[in-house]
Amino acid sequence: MRVLLTGAAGFIGTRIAAALRDAGHDVVAVDAMLDAAHGAGAEAPAGCRVLDVRDAAAIAPLLEGVDVVCHQAAVVGAGVNAADAPSYGSHNDYGTTVLLAEMFAAGCTRLVLASSMVVYGQGRYDCPEHGQIDPPPRTRADLDAGVFEHRCPVCGEPVHWRLVAEAAPLRPRSLYAASKTAQEHYALAWAEATGGSVVALRYHNVYGPYMPRDTPYSGVAAIFRSQLESGDVPRVFEDGGQMRDFVHVDDVAAVNVVAVESELGGFDAFNVCSGRPISIMEVAAELCEARGEAPPVVTGQYRSGDVRHIVADPARAGEVLGFHAAVDPRDGLREFAFAPLRG
Ligand code: UD1
Repeated sequence: MRVLLTGAAGFIGTRIAAALRDAGHDVVAVDAMLDAAHGAGAEAPAGCRVLDVRDAAAIAPLLEGVDVVCHQAAVVGAGVNAADAPSYGSHNDYGTTVLLAEMFAAGCTRLVLASSMVVYGQGRYDCPEHGQIDPPPRTRADLDAGVFEHRCPVCGEPVHWRLVAEAAPLRPRSLYAASKTAQEHYALAWAEATGGSVVALRYHNVYGPYMPRDTPYSGVAAIFRSQLESGDVPRVFEDGGQMRDFVHVDDVAAVNVVAVESELGGFDAFNVCSGRPISIMEVAAELCEARGEAPPVVTGQYRSGDVRHIVADPARAGEVLGFHAAVDPRDGLREFAFAPLRG
């Protein structure tokens, strides 16, 4: 198949390009080479054109003969402050709408979209007494007192995290999350209006070789890894019991190949995760242990707005796409402890 791959020079896009080519696909690779992602003056890798998806005139000729668009290009992270909003809106949402319009004009009917777990907001929780509940945000008083678990809105007792399935309501809580949710909604509306197909892949915490170094937009794996490289000990916030799912970039590349080759119609969304939840403390400990360093420090500090637990349910991606992550995060993180970083 001929695949237009956007964001092809990024941490994830680079691995998808390689995986698609290995699977025999003809890849048209493009990347805007934004300074924020690649550093000022960085050159595109061989075979990748410098192109911003917001540039309709530039994207249109490249769509000729393309069977599927695999759209990875995005401004990532949680957003530092409100000044970032136009950047998320412009690159992620306006960019996607331009792409969808040009796909329609070119008669290209299939999209694979990089989405994120952040669309779910703060995850799913059950109260032992009151069943599934929607907890209110954690209070300053609780966090300052070292009470990090959410409480049941009915009885006030701490609640337990549960796996989040794709049917969960979308509750974006950051600029990035808002932009990813809007991307999905534009893609869904496009699929319904044009009869096209969309596979939205909701990535959990992605890590692996050539992950960008620590920046204000980085996730925790890059932060811990960068701290270790510069001789510091990873600093674990809250009590370290925050649960996540760390999925290796090679598994993310593999599921994109499956999605590109799938024959699903309409709009569909899938969680992309390892299926082996892990605590932030364990992530830090695996990295420290692998490098033979002192154990991580649990600081008890917290960041307002952080999600306590968010863990995806891998079942549907297994049942419908036949995707099962190959890399156990306990193995992958130990390898990541020494993997090269970019930037
Ligand atoms: C991250 C990304 C989000 C992405 C999602 C899924 C950021 C800021 N967040 O969300 O955009 O969509 O993964 O891939 O990029 N922590 C520490 N020490 C630190 C930093 C963080 O203990 O030095 C803790 C945090 O308190 C939090 C956990 O690690 O509990 C995860 O933090 P982070 O990776 O920033 O955010 P996610 O919510 O997982």
